[in-house]
Amino acid sequence: MIKPPLGIYIHIPFCVSKCAYCDFYSLPCCNRETDMRTYVERLCRDIQKYAPRFQNRTVDTVYFGGGTPTVLYESAIFGILRAVSDNFSVSSPEITSEANPESLTLEKAHELKAVGVNRISVGLQAADDGLLKILGRVHTVSDYLRAIENLRAAGFENIGADVMLGLPGQTLRRVEDTLKLLHKQNIPHISAYALKLEKGTPLYRAQSTVHSAQLKDKDNAQCTMRNAQLKDNAECRIYNAQIKEKSETVDCALCTVDYKVDCGLCTVRCKNPLLNFPDDDATADQYDLVYDTLTANGFRRYEVSNFARPGFECRHNLKYWTMGDYLGLGAAAHSFYGGARYANSRSLNYRTQKTPQTPADGLNDAIMLNLRTERGIDAQLLKQAYGRDLLSEPTVLDLIKKGFLILNGARLAVAPDKFYVMNSIIAQLL
Ligand SMILES: C[S@@+](CC[C@H](N)C(=O)[O-])C[C@H]1O[C@@H](n2cnc3c(N)ncnc32)[C@H](O)[C@@H]1O
Ligand code: SF4
Repeated sequence: MIKPPLGIYIHIPFCVSKCAYCDFYSLPCCNRETDMRTYVERLCRDIQKYAPRFQNRTVDTVYFGGGTPTVLYESAIFGILRAVSDNFSVSSPEITSEANPESLTLEKAHELKAVGVNRISVGLQAADDGLLKILGRVHTVSDYLRAIENLRAAGFENIGADVMLGLPGQTLRRVEDTLKLLHKQNIPHISAYALKLEKGTPLYRAQSTVHSAQLKDKDNAQCTMRNAQLKDNAECRIYNAQIKEKSETVDCALCTVDYKVDCGLCTVRCKNPLLNFPDDDATADQYDLVYDTLTANGFRRYEVSNFARPGFECRHNLKYWTMGDYLGLGAAAHSFYGGARYANSRSLNYRTQKTPQTPADGLNDAIMLNLRTERGIDAQLLKQAYGRDLLSEPTVLDLIKKGFLILNGARLAVAPDKFYVMNSIIAQLL
C-alpha cells in the first residue's frame, strides 16, 4: 500500500530577542554563530539518521519554524534542505519558512527563494507600533512593509501573516487597521491567534501583578483609598506597595509606566491602557471581525485560526489537523508517524522521547484536531479506525439539533458561527 506523503518540521530556536508573550523554545541569537553552526550540523545528522525509517515515503512539505529561521547565517537553510533532498525522496514540496520583519532583508529574501523556499509566513502581530512595543517585538510596521517589499522583489507570492488578538489596549478599530494594511498588501494567508498568557512570560507577570493587586485589596478589605475625594487619579497605596517591592516599577518588561489606579469601588484597577487586556467577549468580537472581513474578501477559514485565499492554504499545517504524518527535527519539535507521537526536549542538545499514548488518546486527538478544520471529521472513518460511532451518540445528535455541529454526508463539523466556542463543543465529545 502506498503511504501518504510525509511532512518535515524543522525548529530553529534563535530570535533577535524574546517577545513578552512567547513561550516557544528560542534563545537570543546575538553572539551565537558557533551554536547555530553546531545546531545546523546536528539537524543535518538527524535528517540522515531518520531518513531510513521513511524509505518508502515521499516528502511533500518542509516547514522551518521557530524561533526565527531568518536569523540563521547564510547557507544554513541551503545546507539543511540539501540534506533533506539527499536523504529523502522529495516531490513537489511546499517549503515554508517563518520569518520576522527585522531579519527579512532583500538579501535574505533572495537567498530563501534561491534555495527553494516557496512560502513565507511573516509575524506582523499588529499594525500598530505602540502594540508592537508592548509585545516586545523589535520591528515596526514600516519594517514589516519593507520585508513584504523585499519578498515581492525576490519573487514570493505565497506569503502569510501572523496577527494576534486580545492584546492589551487592542480595540476593534486597531484590529480593523491591521486587516486593512494586510488587504492593501494583498497578503493571501492570515493566521489570527488570540493571545495566550503563558506562565513565566513578562506579559503574564504584568497581568497577574494587576490581578494580585485586586485580590489583595479584596482580601484585606482595607482599601485605604476608599475615600471619594481621592478617586480621580489617586495612587493606590496597596498597589504602590507592590510596585515598591519591584523597584518602583512593575516588572512587566514592557516599559516603566507610572501606574495610577482608581479604587473608587474598592477594586484596584490599573488605569494604564497598556495593561487593559480585552476580556473574552471583546476578544471574541475581534475574532468575529476577522472572520467577517476576511470571508467577505474571498478568504476561506480552513482552520479555526487560519484564513486563506483559494490555493494558499498551508499544506504542511493541514497535516497537523488531519492526522497526517510529520517528522519534527530540532529542539522542542514534535513528530507524529506510525500512529505514535514523539517530543524533543527544549535544549540545543535535545533528546527525543516517545510520548506514551493510550488508544483513547489517539481517538481524542482525531476528534479534537479534525474538528478544528472547516471540513470537520469523517465519522465513518473514525468508526472504522476506533470503533466509535459519533453519529449514534445522544450528545452529538443534540449538538447537531442545537446548531453547534453540522452534518454533511458522513462529515461532522463545527457550525461556522460556533467556531469561537469550539473548545467547549469538543470537550463534550471527549
Ligand atoms: C512562535 S512564532 C514563530 C514565528 C516568528 N518568530 C514570529 O514571531 O512571527 C509563531 C506565531 O505564534 C504566535 N504566538 C506566539 N506566542 C503566542 C501566544 N502566547 N499567544 C498567541 N499567539 C502566539 C505569534 O502570532 C507568532 O507569530
Ligand atoms: S514570537 Fe517569534 S520572534 Fe518572538 S520570541 Fe517567539 S519565536 Fe521569537
